[in-house]
Amino acid sequence: MKKSSLVLFLSALAVDRAAAQAPDFKKDISPILEASCVKCHNEKKAKGKLNMATKAGFEKGGEDGKLVEAGKPADSNLIKVLELAPDHDDAMPPQDKAPRPGKEQIETLKKWISEGAVFPDGVTLVEKK
Ligand code: HEC
Repeated sequence: MKKSSLVLFLSALAVDRAAAQAPDFKKDISPILEASCVKCHNEKKAKGKLNMATKAGFEKGGEDGKLVEAGKPADSNLIKVLELAPDHDDAMPPQDKAPRPGKEQIETLKKWISEGAVFPDGVTLVEKK
């Protein structure tokens, strides 16, 4: 490989990694939550006492405690409920009631949690069908 093409190759890799490692809340995270979760977890209807629509609600968590442990996706209820078998009682979203996030979306959520799970101030998520 010529040196110039090696440089190109490496910079393409770097761009790829940056994109893969830094999910953007508005672009990458909120669409998943708005499509799959907010329908049942909002200010008015907080199933399991969990409101995922606002920063305060999201950070407080639900009956079973915190929704996310910043930096620890494997310890975060948000990820646990998504990785349960779809017919498990605690699996989210409950069967067929909202679209299930796919593998790639779950990976994106994990990355976001690894990076601190920052829910921006002043944002209210709304259900998107
Ligand atoms: C169709 C409604 C519905 C949707 C959509 C839904 N949930 Fe739930 N969720 C519930 C109900 C009902 C409970 C309470 C279950 C219980 O208490 O047994 C619950 C409970 C939970 C809990 C446990 C809360 C606690 O602390 O006790 C978590 C975590 C959770 N949901 C996460 C999610 C996530 C993440 C999504 C989106 C991927 C989601 N839910 C989508 C209905 C929903």
